[in-house]
Amino acid sequence: MTVYTVPAPVLRQKAKPVEKVDARVAKIMKDMLETMYAEDGVGLAANQVGLLERIIVVDVSHSRDGSEALMMANPELVWTSEDPFTYREGCLSVRPCSTETSEELYANVTRPRSIRVRYLDLNGTACEIGAEELLSQCIQHEIDHLDGVLFVDHISALKRGMILRKIEKLRRLGGSDKSK
Ligand code: NI
Repeated sequence: MTVYTVPAPVLRQKAKPVEKVDARVAKIMKDMLETMYAEDGVGLAANQVGLLERIIVVDVSHSRDGSEALMMANPELVWTSEDPFTYREGCLSVRPCSTETSEELYANVTRPRSIRVRYLDLNGTACEIGAEELLSQCIQHEIDHLDGVLFVDHISALKRGMILRKIEKLRRLGGSDKSK
């Protein structure tokens, strides 16, 4: 799958709920997981591969072999803590291309530390899990994507402008920042 980067319009659109997790949706989930590992990401939302369906995949484990991966259709936050958590976020779509990054394309984002999320798994089974800190942060980032929201929307306009200008600069340099 191709990972779209800013300013692709699909990243700003709202994804529609999946009616049921059938073979077609299960294949999208597996293909997205494979794409996420290939691009070395910890999460991926369907908008990022050009599909406006409410599907996300997440893996914040060290093994990255699929054993701890979460594949979710129609993920929905049913509870969020008052207690905040701040983590340095980046995004495969907020880059000159999904495979090129820079330290300057990351920013601290504060979100609820703990969440409960309801979703349909790969088999279409209704599930509800709790998550905190890094996993919680990642799931919230991916659900945002389904609503057309990017992590840069959570930071100051100044910092957002810096990141978007840096992306343009990296693109002008022809996908390389080595000329500096
Ligand atoms: Ni992202």
